[in-house]
Amino acid sequence: MKGIVLSGGSGTRLYPMTRAANKQLLPVYNKPMVYYPLTTLMLAGCREILLVVNPQDEQAYRRLFGDGSQWGLRLEYAVQPTAGGIAEAFLVGRDFIAGDRIGLILGDNLFYGDSLPAMAERGARGTGAVIYAYWVSDPSAYGVIEFDAADRPVAIVEKPKAPRSNWAVTGLYFYDADVCDVAASIPRSARGELEITDVNMHYLKQGRLTVEKLGRGYAWLDTGTPSSLLRAAQFVETVEDRQGLQIGSPEEVAWRKGYIDDAAFARLIEPIRESEYGKYLQRLAARG
Ligand code: G1P
Repeated sequence: MKGIVLSGGSGTRLYPMTRAANKQLLPVYNKPMVYYPLTTLMLAGCREILLVVNPQDEQAYRRLFGDGSQWGLRLEYAVQPTAGGIAEAFLVGRDFIAGDRIGLILGDNLFYGDSLPAMAERGARGTGAVIYAYWVSDPSAYGVIEFDAADRPVAIVEKPKAPRSNWAVTGLYFYDADVCDVAASIPRSARGELEITDVNMHYLKQGRLTVEKLGRGYAWLDTGTPSSLLRAAQFVETVEDRQGLQIGSPEEVAWRKGYIDDAAFARLIEPIRESEYGKYLQRLAARG
């Protein structure tokens, strides 16, 4: 399974934090933000992953992740020269996708929940397009899904002034290989972007869109403003401190999913054994 992490953008709402640093490299408590969506894709079974990044950030991402082999992944990088919308990932990534089913996750989206791996695997294995809806108090900041009386999706509206429901479209999507042609066929929106909502509406009109509602046992957190970034960090700190288990650790996910063996896991830990993070991984390795 292949996946794309969208890690570009200008992060204007987080200025001046994002003046010199890429938004998705900022910390959410104890890890770079991008670790959380990356591990979500890993949990879905994606091992070939394309990182779409800004030109000036490519080297930083390569320093952070390398070729991914340390985590049993194959990572590639593609540069998005200007912010052209989420769906532009399918134009930038067409060669990488090469006719396969593809997962896409936004690099600033944090998902949490006991059933997250099963939920993401269903999307990865599904047909057509699979997207996820989450009940939020402020739907007008998102793509919003309208359902009919039989709970079938009938429309998705991007950032509506008068939302028809509280069900927001989250930043995790799965598509068949047609998505590259679909993205190439839609016009740019008023804000000059290729909108993921237009791609999803295309699949909806063809009867090839599945919307899975994420129930109240999930957390889907935003990191787009200073206060939402802080709340996401506090959420991670609260859960990790209570359980002594970490959220969004690629090393742990790679090891638990068998992408790397015990020896490779130990080699990852060795150079970072003095850090809190390294100590956590040592405890996992010792417990088996
Ligand atoms: C984008 C999508 C929107 C979706 C949201 C999820 O919004 O356009 O449909 O609900 O991501 O985070 P944007 O990041 O462009 O505001």
